[in-house]
Amino acid sequence: MEKEFKNIIVLSEIDSTNNYANHLISDKSVDNGTVVLAHYQNKGRGQRQNHWHSLPGQNLLASLILFPKFLPAPLQFYLSKIVSIAMIKWLQNNNIKATIKWPNDIYVEHKKIAGILIETSVMGSVLHSAVAGIGFNLNQQEFSDDLPNPVSVRQIKGIDTDILKTASELRLIIMDLFLQLQLGELVKIDSSYLKHLFRYKEWALYKKNDQVFEGCITGIGEFGHLQLTNREGKTESYAFKEIEFVL
Ligand code: BTN
Repeated sequence: MEKEFKNIIVLSEIDSTNNYANHLISDKSVDNGTVVLAHYQNKGRGQRQNHWHSLPGQNLLASLILFPKFLPAPLQFYLSKIVSIAMIKWLQNNNIKATIKWPNDIYVEHKKIAGILIETSVMGSVLHSAVAGIGFNLNQQEFSDDLPNPVSVRQIKGIDTDILKTASELRLIIMDLFLQLQLGELVKIDSSYLKHLFRYKEWALYKKNDQVFEGCITGIGEFGHLQLTNREGKTESYAFKEIEFVL
């Protein structure tokens, strides 16, 4: 079943809202800023080829379609930045303090409240389209034991949150940041991302190829790489999948 609200397509069940959004982009003309929202995904996709699990009707499962045709392909990490910042802002507006665990997991203390999966297509040297998939734990109260460290808004605040209203609010916050990006306000976006970055300028443990080492996040490279400085003052850059946080 498919219902349409203003800028939001609501589906009762789908394999993955990211898949549906990608089909919309290739099948027919769709507006910048369209959201695909599903009550249930039977093949929800996460980062690193993981599944994204969510009980029916409990959480926000949505994909926002963007056409960042102004954005040079090497700068696509800015999409991760603006969507992550938007999540933090929504949570702040709802009195929840959260941080961004690089590259784009949203954490409340040491627990994950939302995940983001961005898929892009490139045309020449710039982006053509992007699908920003958001899995945001809103009302689910129990999670399966094999998930590492999930948490929901319901578990933090003790009250339910309207999923469609949240989608619409988040959409507005992201579109506002998308405009900032289009206007080239990169410095502002960078500083907001760093301000909310989990473990920024803190000593902590990381793991690469089964080796645990201490490092301090000192920055994010131009292409979104994590910059870690060691106790000797040497800085290395890491790509996603190259490094793990030891929590
Ligand atoms: C992660 O692994 O942290 C990213 C999870 C992203 C899940 C969302 S749910 C809506 C959209 N559709 C998908 O299949 N995945 C994203």
